[in-house]
Amino acid sequence: MDKKEKYTALYKEAQGLVSGENDLIANLANITALIKDRFGFFWIGFYLVKDSQLVLGPFQGPVACTRIAHGKGVCGTSWAQAKALIVADVHEFPGHIACSAMSKSEIVLPVFYGKEVYMVLDIDSDELATFDKVDEVGLSMLCELISENLPTWN
Ligand code: SME
Repeated sequence: MDKKEKYTALYKEAQGLVSGENDLIANLANITALIKDRFGFFWIGFYLVKDSQLVLGPFQGPVACTRIAHGKGVCGTSWAQAKALIVADVHEFPGHIACSAMSKSEIVLPVFYGKEVYMVLDIDSDELATFDKVDEVGLSMLCELISENLPTWN
């Protein structure tokens, strides 16, 4: 299976996983576990917008920073710009927040509730330049699946 096919399979599995369950945290937790299991990335997690900050949500991987300000780090920038960011070398990203010294590259995608960013999906790799457009498209589909379901999750 190439990477694109892996993302198509991941999407279908995620769809099955969340259908019939409306608990937000349970679904986000299982989605991070699913990505970890299928792709093995170093760190996968959600940061949720709460009181004008990003607050750590369900994740897989080592302990991480709990709060990120608007516009700070890769996550806070993705939130502020409401767009996906791919960082080939985190040390080249001004203001990158290093939760782990092992982290070398990163992708962050916004998850929308209507027009507002409700959370971001953050994935870190312990290798340089891990993420490309295929990851962005595959993970965007997953973020859209979450967005579509958010109104019915609590
Ligand atoms: N590196 C992120 C912080 C979160 S950790 O990677 C889990 C950033 O710069 O926003």
